[in-house]
Amino acid sequence: MKGIILAGGAGTRLYPASRPISKILLPVYDKPMIYYPLSVLMQAGIRDILIITTPEDSSNFKKLLGDGSNWGIKLSYKAQLVKRGIADAFLLGEEFIGQDSCALILGDNLFYGNGFERLLKAACLRKTGATVFAYEVANPQRFGVVEFDENHRALSLEEKPAQPKSRFAVTGLYFYDNNVVKYAKELKPSKRGELEITDLNKRYLEEGNLHVTTLERGFAWLDTGTHESVLQAANFVHSMQVNQGIEIACLEEIALHNEFITPQELKVQLVNQPNNIYYNFVRELVKEK
Ligand code: G1P
Repeated sequence: MKGIILAGGAGTRLYPASRPISKILLPVYDKPMIYYPLSVLMQAGIRDILIITTPEDSSNFKKLLGDGSNWGIKLSYKAQLVKRGIADAFLLGEEFIGQDSCALILGDNLFYGNGFERLLKAACLRKTGATVFAYEVANPQRFGVVEFDENHRALSLEEKPAQPKSRFAVTGLYFYDNNVVKYAKELKPSKRGELEITDLNKRYLEEGNLHVTTLERGFAWLDTGTHESVLQAANFVHSMQVNQGIEIACLEEIALHNEFITPQELKVQLVNQPNNIYYNFVRELVKEK
């Protein structure tokens, strides 16, 4: 399975902060926003990842993440020249995806909760169809919305409906079989001129091939599209990390856990890293091994 992180877009809602730099590189507490979606794909066990950026930001992403070898993964980059919607990721990524299945995560989505790795691995194992994740929110009008029948089976999907049929948002994490490229090519731009991810998901729903996994109440899903939500996410990460003495979205920890790299390899890398909370947390992990 391949993975794509969509980190394009102007992020104008975060101007002036995101004028000189992609919002996906701005910090959410102690690490750049992209660490969070990247950590999700790595937790799913995905090691071959394409990052779609704006042409201006591509060099900054490369400076931060390089080729991914530090974490035992392979990162490649592609610039999105015009903003054509989320589903455009599958047209830009056609060659990268090849004959594989593919997961997509939006660069500004943060997921955190117990049992997440198990859900991710289950989605990866599904050979056909698509898997999306639903999460109950207070403001469903802002999102793609899924309606369920009494057996909790998905009935309909709507993008940013004025009158939502449920309070379940479709989060920005999607798993697809290889048909996704063909289906994306068949999409027509919506009224706002974009290839909508919801239209792609509708296609799978109509075929009876859309799996909707609901993220339970104790789970945290945050989309960091506004200053308010970035601050909320930063406060959440800060409070979890300080209370529990953990690091959320620590790429080195996941790479070790999944055996993408060895403790010895990590030890060598740590020589050049500063003495701060993040890297000292990683130092402790290596010590335990
Ligand atoms: C996009 C999708 C929407 C989804 C949301 C999740 O909205 O179009 O269906 O619920 O991401 O973050 P956007 O963030 O582009 O407004």
